[in-house]
Amino acid sequence: TEARAFAPASVGNIGVGFDLLGHSIDGPRDVATVRRIDAPEVRIAAIRGEVEGVAGIPLEAARNTAGQALMALRAALDLPFGLELELDKGIPLGSGLGGSAASCVAALVAANALLDTPLSREALYAFALDGEAVASGSRHGDNVAPMLLGGVVLATASRMVALEAPDWLHAVVVHPDQMLETRRARAVLAEPYPLSQVVAHSACLALFLTGLQRGDAALIGEGLKDLLVEPRRAPLIPGFAQVKRAAMDHGALGASISGAGPSVFAWFASKAAAEAAAVSMRTAFAEAGFGSRAYVSPV
Ligand code: HSE
Repeated sequence: TEARAFAPASVGNIGVGFDLLGHSIDGPRDVATVRRIDAPEVRIAAIRGEVEGVAGIPLEAARNTAGQALMALRAALDLPFGLELELDKGIPLGSGLGGSAASCVAALVAANALLDTPLSREALYAFALDGEAVASGSRHGDNVAPMLLGGVVLATASRMVALEAPDWLHAVVVHPDQMLETRRARAVLAEPYPLSQVVAHSACLALFLTGLQRGDAALIGEGLKDLLVEPRRAPLIPGFAQVKRAAMDHGALGASISGAGPSVFAWFASKAAAEAAAVSMRTAFAEAGFGSRAYVSPV
């Protein structure tokens, strides 16, 4: 009557796929422990962790991403029992690493293991979107989907599609000691975009997806550009331009903001290149006045 599950951090958007693409990383993770209880409700018993933002996470289930996801699951399946949840946060909030999404996915995967007939990962997706919406005000799956499936995932409103990726691809993700709220980072995107810019960006997305499927580093690099969101969000992240330049100077295929920021990610064609770049990317954040952590992970 008790189950535990973890969810990894992720890089939402992958630069070119706003709200649509993401990949999981070997790095920090959130752990959820869920128990069946007699009371017909979802209850959050504890939220622990040394990372930033933990004290501010609501314990009230309806206002908590993981709590909301479990409430949606309970209601949809008409479960005769309640669920009690404990969260161990390893992913900082407001980091651009999918911290709120990970709690929600870990809680769902743990709760699913307690069901008499567990659901598929695909079937959990809708409930994860319900949870994500509590944190960010929008139902986007670019973080929850790669956490549910692993690897690079295309996440639409209704489904997840796992994408092929060549095994030499490596990501660096650098998380600076800054916090950026997803809601604030989304507010700067409210103004409309000219159609020509949308078309140019669509070309990048098409090149990127084709490059991934073919395992073609040149095509991936040509496509891994964010012409829409990055220009508007970069001013919210002190040091961003310098950190991106450091990655590109080390031969990155592309670099951009991880999720809603302030973390910055870059993709490389080898692990060695990624490891060398990680050092310079951290130095660039340090020169802008910020300590940081770097994660190097296969994509
Ligand atoms: N796709 C989201 C955004 C990040 O860029 O706002 C994931 O929550």
